[in-house]
Amino acid sequence: MKLIFLGPPGAGKGTQAAGVSAHLGVPHISTGDMFRSAIQNQTPTGIEAKKYLDAGELVPDSVTIAMVKERLSMDDARNGYLLDGFPRTVDQAIALDEISAPDAVVDIDVPDERLMSRLTGRRICGKCHGTFHVSKLTDEHTCPICGGELYQRSDDHPDTISTRLKAYHASTEPLIGYYKGLGKLRQVNGDSQLEDVFKAILATLE
Ligand code: AP5
Ligand code: MG
Repeated sequence: MKLIFLGPPGAGKGTQAAGVSAHLGVPHISTGDMFRSAIQNQTPTGIEAKKYLDAGELVPDSVTIAMVKERLSMDDARNGYLLDGFPRTVDQAIALDEISAPDAVVDIDVPDERLMSRLTGRRICGKCHGTFHVSKLTDEHTCPICGGELYQRSDDHPDTISTRLKAYHASTEPLIGYYKGLGKLRQVNGDSQLEDVFKAILATLE
């Protein structure tokens, strides 16, 4: 299956993609994770993308589309994919339709007022890459799964989060109408317990 997760920053795309991609047997492809890894490795894409991620703005379509096109040409994406964070503009969606059109698009819907606290409280494990929230941790520095050290993403600060939310509403939200028009949109309430969101996503794909 070729699947897209749409939704604002903090909707739970990455959290749910881990379980859903394993369930479907397709690779979880997160453009945000790819950019962060490119920045860490100081590749030409990483050097170009860094200023946009730091500011909370979208990386130009030309850079993003080229990166995704290359990733989707890899062997593991032959039987499908779960794209998390791509497409994020109508031009990216049109490009994806030409590269490898999705079968379904799940929009994880969470009201804006919930997102700020989800993102400022997010912690990620440097070892197993699990995502957590401080409200559920007894020790906000140590991963409850593997004992690795937890860190905070550099764009999870209130000013940058506001810019990311604006970019979402201006450039990404129009994709809801784009995919509705193609009959591919499935909407899921992301403002409930993790397990309930997971079940709702699987149910909408049946
Ligand atoms: P990216 O990494 O994709 O960030 P994002 O879209 O802002 O989304 P997040 O990863 O912040 O949120 P999420 O929905 O994955 O939430 P999560 O599951 O972690 O992109 C980063 C940057 O890269 C962009 O700003 C841009 O610069 C660039 N970029 C990436 N793709 C691009 C593209 N296509 N074009 C151009 N530029 C691009 O959960 C968040 C928190 O909420 C966690 O603490 C979690 O524990 C908690 N949580 C999750 N679910 C629940 C729940 N049901 N109840 C309570 N808490 C929950
Ligand atoms: Mg994410």
